[in-house]
Amino acid sequence: MTEADLKYLFSPRHVAVVGASHREGKIGYTVMKNIIDSGYNGKVYPVNPKGGEILGKKVYRDILSINGSVDLALIIVPASIAVNAVEECAKKAVKFAIVITSGFSEIGNIDAEREMVKKAREHGMRILGPNVFGLYSASAPINATFGPSKVRPGNIAVISQSGALGIAMIGKTAEENMGLSTIVSIGNKADITEADIMSYVFNDDITKVIFLYIEGLENGRELMELVKKKPDNMKIVAIKAGKSKVGARAVASHTGSLAGSDKIFDAAFKQAGILRAESLEDGFNWVATLAACPKPAGKNVVIITNGGGIGVLAADACEKYGVGLMNDMEVLNKTFGDVIPKFGSYKNPVDLTGQAGGDDYKEALEKALNEEDIHAIIALYCQTDMTPLEPLKNTFREMQRKYGNRKPIIYSLFGGEGTDKIIEELKGDGIPAFYDVEDAVSSLNALYKAHEDGKKEKRESLDIDESRIKKVIENVAGDGRTQLLGTEAKEVMVAVGLDVPPFKVVKNIEHAVNTAEEIGYPVVMKVISEDIVHKTDIGGVLLDIDNEKEVIEGYEAIIRNCRQYAPNANIRGVEIAKMVPDGVETIVGITTDPSFGKVMMFGLGGIYVEVLKDVVFRVAPVSKREISKMVREINSYSLLTGVRGESRKDIDSVIDTIYRIGILADKFPEISELDINPLVVYEKGAKVLDARISIEVKK
Ligand code: ACO
Repeated sequence: MTEADLKYLFSPRHVAVVGASHREGKIGYTVMKNIIDSGYNGKVYPVNPKGGEILGKKVYRDILSINGSVDLALIIVPASIAVNAVEECAKKAVKFAIVITSGFSEIGNIDAEREMVKKAREHGMRILGPNVFGLYSASAPINATFGPSKVRPGNIAVISQSGALGIAMIGKTAEENMGLSTIVSIGNKADITEADIMSYVFNDDITKVIFLYIEGLENGRELMELVKKKPDNMKIVAIKAGKSKVGARAVASHTGSLAGSDKIFDAAFKQAGILRAESLEDGFNWVATLAACPKPAGKNVVIITNGGGIGVLAADACEKYGVGLMNDMEVLNKTFGDVIPKFGSYKNPVDLTGQAGGDDYKEALEKALNEEDIHAIIALYCQTDMTPLEPLKNTFREMQRKYGNRKPIIYSLFGGEGTDKIIEELKGDGIPAFYDVEDAVSSLNALYKAHEDGKKEKRESLDIDESRIKKVIENVAGDGRTQLLGTEAKEVMVAVGLDVPPFKVVKNIEHAVNTAEEIGYPVVMKVISEDIVHKTDIGGVLLDIDNEKEVIEGYEAIIRNCRQYAPNANIRGVEIAKMVPDGVETIVGITTDPSFGKVMMFGLGGIYVEVLKDVVFRVAPVSKREISKMVREINSYSLLTGVRGESRKDIDSVIDTIYRIGILADKFPEISELDINPLVVYEKGAKVLDARISIEVKK
């Protein structure tokens, strides 16, 4: 479906309300009233077999008896007759039906829902719902919802998976004086999906910010792909309900067991450039700020205040959120030196002191707004009895009018009824104003985050030996196995171009001795068997083998231990590998998420990986730029940069490893789980000591 296809859903020329009610308080009455009250200028046809008049409009006994054309029908009759009503609309060549009626797939009534869509499609009609609250669209304008009647038109699109919350959001946006381009819930998505709606909104020429409420996402990857198509200057804030962990899944990797669905949501949203708000309150604040402010030209923020206390609170909040305060004293002095009283301070926070009123703020703000090296302003006001509030409000309005398109200015006013009233009025003018300093700073931070550079990177061409990997995987699948042997996994790692210490499989003592000598001491010996998972625990692994005698004894011991503790295990031989020095142990992995598909993990590795859980995720494939952000996100990142005089480790080779593994995941979708643990990182280079790979064998 293209955006053009939804045009008459958002800008219907004429509408019918099937199930329009004569009785006040009923949904069919409220929807009629809201449509009329919203100033909709097309024809509104109420449909009800009882006939008569509703809100001064002639009622049609059925939709087919309407003479004119109808683009949109609201269906507000009980579920038992809704399918029939939809079919009648389709026969009338109505383009869209919004089915408000509940009682379909959400309660297991799936057949009726399918039947409804089938009937609609037979005549080319599309359905929004069922089980939705209707739709508000500023482009019509039309408020065809049973929510609050007053909706301010504006540039924010609210798309909600939850109907009840969607209705509450209409009320909240009204309370916050927020202007909407549309508000829509997608209900059971029997036909039109959120992807269809978003594609339309991306190109509707009104919307600047999308506020997305998500309860669950069956196909997260589809959303990420879709979001790539949004215009660069359109921003998305999302609230994802339920921070639940994914239920216990049978996975063979650390990566799989550490990947809670919520962490993946976080990562995916970050990658897609969607801002994830933790609370509705934050979401509303951020959306209002993004809708009002331009992209900041740089990181230099100045706080202008009349009170030292709130100035410090704001500065603390800036530190907490990582918002950069301008500290170039020369620029600050040049800008504010003349406007600050002797007992004030031009240091940032710039303190105009307690007696400052509208004119003082005007002078200071105007200077800051005209200074090229200042990129964003947080203006704070603490109510005093020294100055009237009216001139202050006028100053803020004037600044917004004159400079609001060029530089972000965010306000926070603290006091009583008077300042609260100003905040409401400023919000009504689309100016970001908050009661709480912290909200102002968090919103400015969201603005910075939303405008972070998301440039796409070209994929590098890499020396990956695909045919070798294919051969290994085919061999494993041919054996009917889903788990690669350690040595097979290492062979894949070599083919991916990673540094794996030399290793070989041996099947007798003589071969073991020759191989150890060829590789060079010290070596590691490890049993190879798909039937023995915890090899160390049963004495199947020996480290630091230094000479021929130890190889012979070691070989015998490994075979003896395995025969004793796992008598039925298929022992394929013993691996001899070069023993390498200690370094920082990390983990790199792949898992498969039901909603987002292949997901990459990086973290602190070794034996405590599941205890420390110091890991981060990204949806594959990942660009090198994104990987370098990912690597910096782990708590123990300083181990890589060098603690207590230790040298810096080769972070570039970690990035390269993750990049290569991402490409492996992309090229070989049959790899469902993978762990490199540990990937040992040195001053120069990183080595794969152990790897595990699971594949999904196609039936
Ligand atoms: N064509 C047109 N109108 C008809 C027809 C027909 N074939 N048959 C009956 N009607 C009229 C009725 O006469 C009635 O009008 P009246 O009030 O003037 O008598 C009107 O249609 C409504 O019919 P009722 O039987 O009175 O149904 P009621 O209004 O009680 O319920 C409704 C209908 C609202 C669709 C209900 O079935 C329903 O689904 N409610 C839930 C709605 C909902 O919450 N949706 C999800 C929103 S999002 C969220 O989660 C909040």
